[in-house]
Amino acid sequence: KQVALGIDIGGTNTKFGLVNHRGEILAKGSIKTDEYEKVEDFIDALYQNINPLIEKYSPNKNLDGIGVGAPNANYYRGTIEQAPNLRWKGVVPFAELMTKKFGFSCRMTNDANAAALGEMMFGAARGMKDFIMITLGTGVGSGIIAGGSLIYGHDGFAGELGHTIVKPGGRKHWSTGSEGSLEAYASATGISITAKKFRAEFPDSMLNQYREEEINSKTVYECAQKGDPTAIEVFRYTGQKLGEALANFVMFSSPEAILLFGGVIKAGDYLLKPTKLHMERNLLPIFRGKVKLVFSELDEADAAILGASALVWENNK
Ligand code: BGC
Ligand code: NA
Repeated sequence: KQVALGIDIGGTNTKFGLVNHRGEILAKGSIKTDEYEKVEDFIDALYQNINPLIEKYSPNKNLDGIGVGAPNANYYRGTIEQAPNLRWKGVVPFAELMTKKFGFSCRMTNDANAAALGEMMFGAARGMKDFIMITLGTGVGSGIIAGGSLIYGHDGFAGELGHTIVKPGGRKHWSTGSEGSLEAYASATGISITAKKFRAEFPDSMLNQYREEEINSKTVYECAQKGDPTAIEVFRYTGQKLGEALANFVMFSSPEAILLFGGVIKAGDYLLKPTKLHMERNLLPIFRGKVKLVFSELDEADAAILGASALVWENNK
């Protein structure tokens, strides 16, 4: 065993790292995902950035393999299929394209699945056999660990909890067209939609000091910290939707913990408190007070990079 390449593709940024089997990241970097309209150009850019690292950090310039976590990735087929928050449409044979370019074998899983694996091996979920990872970023992803393994299901896409419906007939998703999905409310994108709606209703809100394109979970957080009630309400509302969804997930798989992960959790208690309240309130009493709600321990990118690289060694453990 020597070195694997782990890649975490997000809607906005892609992060990569060379990882040894002890889970040490030897070198890392990132590129913008949404700059590349064509997947081939994206893979070329990855190669230009990563190949020098392989030459520098990997013994004999060799890799054990490549592991990739990506939105709408299919574990069985090594594809990315119709990802709502990526520019590459249709079915992208991503693993095959990577192998052609890099000359190493490549395995794929969903980005949130990769983060769940990383947390289980090296982070906040060490020692846990049943937990759910929820990633709150450009989209909302999830990885469901049951009995110590990821649930993949019949077709390899299990765990798309971000697209479960939290408000029937609710907000239309910008890409999938579904109505009232968790992602439409609790992703960074969803939070900015909520903030724009709420600030229009409250002309006094500090949120009105920003230009349209400046409204995001970070600026809402800044206003909340300064005591703006509208900004605080944005997180309360988001937390309510998230908490209701989490209650459903708990009753589905009886996890020991739910891990929250991603840029949005920087909102801290503004988000966590209402989330917890609405999760507990909606749980069947047998589940109440038993499920830990925790923030991920690893650096956002690291968890997914580590989890993705672990795929490389999965079968020869
Ligand atoms: C995708 C998931 C992904 C999540 C986070 C969702 O829109 O459907 O596959 O895990 O975004 O990137
Ligand atoms: Na998943």
